[in-house]
Amino acid sequence: MRGLVVLATLVYFATAQHQALIDYLERRLLAIEDRISLWHEQTARYAIELRELKQQMVSQLENLDKEKETLRMNLDGVGSRVDRVERELDYLETQNGAQPCVDVDDKLIEQQVTLVQEKQKAKYFKLSDCGDMISNIKAMKILKRVGGPKGTWTKDTNRGSGKVFIFNGTDEDTIYEFASVQEFSRSLGLTLSKKLKLPYAWKGTGHVVYNNYAYYVNQVDGVKVVKYDLRNSSVTDSAMFPDLDPVPVYGLTPETVMDLAVDEEGLWAIYATRQNERHISMAKMDANSLDIEQMWDTTCPRENAEAAFVICGTLYVVYNTKQPGRSRVQCVFDVNGMVSNDDAPLVYFPKRYGAHSSLKYNPQEQLLYAWDDGYQILYKLVMKKKLEI
Ligand SMILES: *[C@@H]1O[C@H](CO)[C@@H](O)[C@H](O)[C@H]1NC(C)=O
Ligand SMILES: *[C@@H]1O[C@H](CO)[C@@H](O)[C@H](O)[C@H]1NC(C)=O
Repeated sequence: MRGLVVLATLVYFATAQHQALIDYLERRLLAIEDRISLWHEQTARYAIELRELKQQMVSQLENLDKEKETLRMNLDGVGSRVDRVERELDYLETQNGAQPCVDVDDKLIEQQVTLVQEKQKAKYFKLSDCGDMISNIKAMKILKRVGGPKGTWTKDTNRGSGKVFIFNGTDEDTIYEFASVQEFSRSLGLTLSKKLKLPYAWKGTGHVVYNNYAYYVNQVDGVKVVKYDLRNSSVTDSAMFPDLDPVPVYGLTPETVMDLAVDEEGLWAIYATRQNERHISMAKMDANSLDIEQMWDTTCPRENAEAAFVICGTLYVVYNTKQPGRSRVQCVFDVNGMVSNDDAPLVYFPKRYGAHSSLKYNPQEQLLYAWDDGYQILYKLVMKKKLEI
C-alpha cells in the first residue's frame, strides 16, 4: 500500500511537472504568436509607409522633371535672345560694311518685340502680287547725327544705285549725295558728299529718291510735286496737285503738307485737305508722268501723327504715344482692303530724341530711313504675309 502511495505521488508529481511544462510551452507559444502578429502589423505598417514614401518620391521626381523642363525652356529663351543679339550685331556689321574705321555712333542697338493679334479674316480683293505687311522691328541703328532737328534721308530705291541723299531742314534747296551708306557713315559731317542745288526749294520732309530721280514737294503757289533727274541735275517734270486746299498731313510735323513714299508698287502721295480735315488721304501716282492714278480718304487721324510710310499698298501711320520715348504704328490703311485696323501690328519705335520728322521705306532692304531730331536712324523690319494674320 505504501508503495502504491509513493507511485501515485510520483505520478502526481510527474503529471504536475508535465502540466507545468505544457503550460510553459503554451505561454511561450502565445507570446510568440503575439510577437508574430505584432510583426505582421508592423510589416503592414512599414509596407504602407514604404508605399507612401515611394509615392512622395515619384511626385517629387515629377516636380523635378517639370523644373528641369522649365529650366531648359528658360535656357532656350536665353539662347534665342543671344541668337537675336548676334543677328542684330551681324546686321549692324553688314550695314557698316568692311570699313575699318567707321565714325559711327554705335551706342544703341534696340530690339522691339511686338505682339501680333493672330486673326483669320476673309480676303476678298487683291490689287497686286505684293502681299507683305510688317510683323515687327528687328533692329535699330543710329547711324549719324548731321543737320537740324527736321529733315529726310533716304537711299535711292533703285536696286543698283546704293546712293544716299540727305535733305537737311524743311525749307532748303541743297541735297547732299553720298556714294553709299558706308560713305555717309565715314564722312566727317557732310564733307564726303556731292552737293546738288535744286532750282526750287523743297517744303517739309516729303522727299523720296526713286530710280535716279528725286521727287520733292514745292509749295510756292499751290502744292507741286517736282521730279528732279539726279544724274544731270535737272528738273524733268512737275505737277500741281489738283483740287487741294492743303493742311499739314501729320499733326506733329506741321511743315509737311504732302509726304511722298515709295513701296513695291511705286510712288505714293500722303496728304491732307481741309475737305477731310481730321484724316489722312493718300494717292497712287505714276512715277513717270506724275499723274494721279487713284485717291483714298483713309481712316487714320492726323492728330498726334509723326510720320507715315507705305508697304505693299498699306499705309502705316506712326503716332506719338503717352509713354515717353516711344512712338508706335497705330493706324493702318490698306488700299487692297486686306489689312484692317484690327490686324494692325503693335509696332513700337524705340524713339530716342524728338519725333520722327520722316520715315522712308526701302522695299529692297526692308529698311526704314528715319530722321529723329537730327539723328539718322535705320530700322530693320521683319515682314510677314498679309494672309497669315
Ligand atoms: C541743317 O539745317 C538746319 C536748319 O534746319 C541748319 O541750322 C543747319 O545749319 C543745317 N546743317 C547743315 C550741315 O547744312
Ligand atoms: C537729263 O538726262 C535725261 C535722261 O537721262 C534726259 O532726258 C534729259 O534731257 C537730260 N536733261 C538735261 C538738261 O540734260
